[in-house]
Amino acid sequence: VSEVKGGEDEGAAWVGKELTVRGWVRTCRAQRTVTFVEVNDGSCLSNMQCVLTPETEGYDQIDSIATGASVLVEGVVASSQGGKQKVELKVSKIILIGESDPTSFPIQKKRVSREFLRTVAHLRPRTNTFGAVARVRNALAYATHKFFQDSGFVWVSSPIITASDCEGAGEQFYVTTLLSNSAEGGCLVNSIPSKDGRVDWSQDFFGKPAFLTVSGQLNGETYASALSDIYTFGPTFRAENSNTTRHLAEFWMIEPELAFADLNDDMACASAYLQYVVKYILENCKEDMDFFNTWVEKGIIDRLNSVVEKSFVQMSYSDAVKLLIGSNKKFEFPVKWGLDLQSEHERYITEVAFGGRPVIIRDYPKDIKAFYMRQNDDGKTVAAMDLLVPRVGELIGGSQREERLDYLEARLDEANLNKDSYWWYLDLRRYGSVPHAGFGLGFERLVQFATGIDNIRDAIPFPRVPGSAEF
Ligand code: 4AD
Ligand code: MG
Repeated sequence: VSEVKGGEDEGAAWVGKELTVRGWVRTCRAQRTVTFVEVNDGSCLSNMQCVLTPETEGYDQIDSIATGASVLVEGVVASSQGGKQKVELKVSKIILIGESDPTSFPIQKKRVSREFLRTVAHLRPRTNTFGAVARVRNALAYATHKFFQDSGFVWVSSPIITASDCEGAGEQFYVTTLLSNSAEGGCLVNSIPSKDGRVDWSQDFFGKPAFLTVSGQLNGETYASALSDIYTFGPTFRAENSNTTRHLAEFWMIEPELAFADLNDDMACASAYLQYVVKYILENCKEDMDFFNTWVEKGIIDRLNSVVEKSFVQMSYSDAVKLLIGSNKKFEFPVKWGLDLQSEHERYITEVAFGGRPVIIRDYPKDIKAFYMRQNDDGKTVAAMDLLVPRVGELIGGSQREERLDYLEARLDEANLNKDSYWWYLDLRRYGSVPHAGFGLGFERLVQFATGIDNIRDAIPFPRVPGSAEF
């Protein structure tokens, strides 16, 4: 259907041509002499309006053709009189492939809430909204690879099972081996230690403790220390028990790592990347973006256009704190140099103070940031950056990495992390260390930002949040 309707002429050039469509029935409207069946094949938002008459082969099955059924329709493309669409299909033959009971099919014609659709996650891709989200998510993934590949980055697969804690924040899922009572063997994943509070190492991953990765960064750094510019793009996991519209327990992260680079190079790469992928979907997903603009977030296209056209604001953490204090706004959480910025502060900065422009905040206090970030000359801050966008808040977190062995060892000690378990990471500083920098972008937050979808659970096909892994 996208091939027919996707062109500038909305299908006019197809008039008179034969066409076969396979898809799912969205609606079926019977009139006295004709029946209109709207068929969607998922290739685009538009349905193909199919016009059936008693002469249509298979017309005797018309009573079984209901919302949700799968069909094959053959016919000739014709100009449509209705005005809602340029063309329709005059059907010569219809085959009912899989029937659907209209009385129990959960997605009825009336608009249903996204909350309800989460309870039928197996059927929600058949709605306009989730079909559009899936296509735009796909385009963002394609544009991500295209941006980095065209810039000479090598894609590296980082491991999902790992022994190291990249963020040092203890939000890892613990991996255990399923014991003999399992029919298939395999692995059980559990973030809860045994009853006495200790982890039972006999049940861990083949005799050694292992976790699901929270970030591919440390592994990415090893490849950047050999191949120069690399990026990872894969699933990451956080066992944080937070019930927000911006957190998932399983999310996809894009983590570029640039060798022979500093924080300025890192920020330039993050800005160029974000502008590239946003421009890509504006140009290549027009129909879906128009849909979001009308039904999900009014004005999103203008907002995204300005992201592509204007440069991003840059400011230091210290200036951000001054700005927040100077605003005299009553925030729920305190603002004070040395405390981390909360989501309400981040949103104030990008949405109110800078009218919706993306803002990069740099040079955070070292005590609130991860051990691997490079210490600045002031001794108090690190060369870190967060990129904030309206509605979502933190979209990207990154830094220049500490490439000096003695500084890094001191940071591990300060953070109470075991140096021995980071021996291979420290080796990178022993053998041919180079200044390098990178960042991580949460892919579902990008999908939220690019579609206007307000809950992150609707930006991924099967969301994993506390208490939800049914589908
Ligand atoms: O800021 P974070 O924790 O940074 C890192 O993991 C670094 N190792 C990245 C790097 O420098 N290579 O996470 C990076 C991004 C965040 O900015 C956010 O967009 C996303 O990952 N993120 C989440 N997205 C969904 N659900 C969660 N629970 C998330 N936690 C982080
Ligand atoms: Mg962060």
